[in-house]
Amino acid sequence: MRIGLLTVALCLLSSLTLSQEIESLLKSKGCYSCHDLEKSKVGPPFKVIAKEYKNNPDAMKTLVQSLMSGSVGKWQGLANKYGITITSFYMPRQPVSKEEAEKISKWILSLED
Ligand code: HEC
Repeated sequence: MRIGLLTVALCLLSSLTLSQEIESLLKSKGCYSCHDLEKSKVGPPFKVIAKEYKNNPDAMKTLVQSLMSGSVGKWQGLANKYGITITSFYMPRQPVSKEEAEKISKWILSLED
């Protein structure tokens, strides 16, 4: 019982640290000037991106690629599907390393609503 509780506490603590680490990474890279967790901005909300790629086996690869090389025209059509309004049709290449891109993509894909 005690060990169970301790495990739960440790898990909560480590997921908290991860989201805080990601949060400051996203802030320092300027992602929030175009994205929000839940609301439409210049680009799609992170939670909607998570929904779109949920059952896509290539999700990690695709998102890492989009972050490192940019993404054009994918979300114009998807915006309607999710009832969101984005104000740009492309995202420029982002100043992230491959490790950062992977960490961020993994975090986005773990989001649920
Ligand atoms: C200048 C505005 C801007 C900035 C800065 C920006 N994005 Fe985007 N992002 C967009 C737009 C617009 C789209 C939709 C692109 C499309 O339609 O192909 C997008 C799409 C995405 C996608 C989905 C890509 C796909 O393949 O479907 C992810 C993931 C993403 N952004 C994450 C980020 C992260 C993380 C950062 C910070 C490192 C960031 N964005 C910074 C505007 C931005």
